[in-house]
Amino acid sequence: MKGLKNHAIEVLNGNWKDKIGFSVPCANLYPFQWFWDSGLIAIGFAHFDMRKAEQEIRTLLDTQWGNGFIPHIIFHTDSDSYFPGPDFHRSDLHPQSSKKYRSTGMTQPPVTGFVLEKMYNIAKDKDAVLKFIKSLIDKVYFNHKYFYENRDPQNEGLVYIYHNWESGTDNSPIWDDIWDTMNPPEYTFERRDTTHVDASERPSKREYDHYLYIIDIAKEHNYSDEKIAELSPFLVQDPLFNAMLIKSNESLINLYEKLGDSEKVNQLKEWQEKSKQSFNSKLFDEELGAYVHYDMRNERPLRYLSSSSFSPLYAGIPSTERAASMVQIMMEKFGGDHQYLCASFDPTSERFNPKKYWRGPVWVNLNWMLHNGLKRYGYKDIAERVKHDTIQILEKNGFYEYFDSRKEMHQNGKAGYGGNNFSWSAALLIDLLES
Ligand code: GLC
Repeated sequence: MKGLKNHAIEVLNGNWKDKIGFSVPCANLYPFQWFWDSGLIAIGFAHFDMRKAEQEIRTLLDTQWGNGFIPHIIFHTDSDSYFPGPDFHRSDLHPQSSKKYRSTGMTQPPVTGFVLEKMYNIAKDKDAVLKFIKSLIDKVYFNHKYFYENRDPQNEGLVYIYHNWESGTDNSPIWDDIWDTMNPPEYTFERRDTTHVDASERPSKREYDHYLYIIDIAKEHNYSDEKIAELSPFLVQDPLFNAMLIKSNESLINLYEKLGDSEKVNQLKEWQEKSKQSFNSKLFDEELGAYVHYDMRNERPLRYLSSSSFSPLYAGIPSTERAASMVQIMMEKFGGDHQYLCASFDPTSERFNPKKYWRGPVWVNLNWMLHNGLKRYGYKDIAERVKHDTIQILEKNGFYEYFDSRKEMHQNGKAGYGGNNFSWSAALLIDLLES
């Protein structure tokens, strides 16, 4: 295990950009800073190099806009290995966007709150890390305030995402139902991802047309949240995204209690209560026995099981009864002896594809969340299985971006897909080994 951990440390150090102070998710395929990657990477660094962990988060939060928004990709450098780049996204269209950094005009799952608490728990020198946290926690709070004030038009305590790239689960089959409602123009562009990675593991050209079209609509209105809520064909309450926000609220409450800021604690508790209540009343699907996405634009639940369906365990959202039903369903559909936990999409669905980007493969970040969520509810054995499966997959294949969920495919060590030497796979392995 020491070898694996050392390898993980090497991967993280290799992806670290010291001059600016951030990590790329992996070389070539993703050559910039990504919001939720950065947060999860900091958890790994916190175990062996707190300076880098702190710098990673400092850089990320420095990119915050005047309205509290934090972008999903920050283009620190010029690179022609990625499409669509800063000239397509044009974050400068938004009146409050950062003047210092070029970025996208969309965001990603808000992990920063719970990352700060993890860093505190991991740190040996608690005073030093608390000082660091104190210096920037208000930015995270401001980010949550942005979400509640701008992404919750019906005042439900649930925030929307307006693009599949905001979900983090970019190519999930869940979005197919939304693509069916759209007919975007055919764009002419040169893909870059497929020069680094086998095209069969990536989205299709037509799927990219949809992605670009939603951005064009947002750009036409200078990324105004109000206009996006009114016009975007993609408007979804995502259980993973909202679970990340709720988990981060919980961590901010714990940290502000330590720092003695009762005003913020009270506001966070108010948000938290409402969010959890709506999450449980709106996103739980009794028949499927787990949480699903809600399509606000077309006013319908998107009734599919995915690894996102189980992420609320990590945020303490379900009752113990609901947690029991979720675990049972997960084991029945995702947990057979021939499968590694946990496929990113329902293996019994005809849309399942165990090789393709979020349409079935196992992802280390979702497994890490699941492991911690199962532990939180007392499912020690299954939590151990998730940990064990994750370690085995990484040992057999290396630190890839995603992995085949079928055990039989792992015989020759070629069941890792997407980018290699992938930062969060390394970072969260380090944390898993300590859990
Ligand atoms: C992919 C993933 C997204 C991640 C990004 C960088 O686009 O879908 O979740 O943040 O890669 O790793």
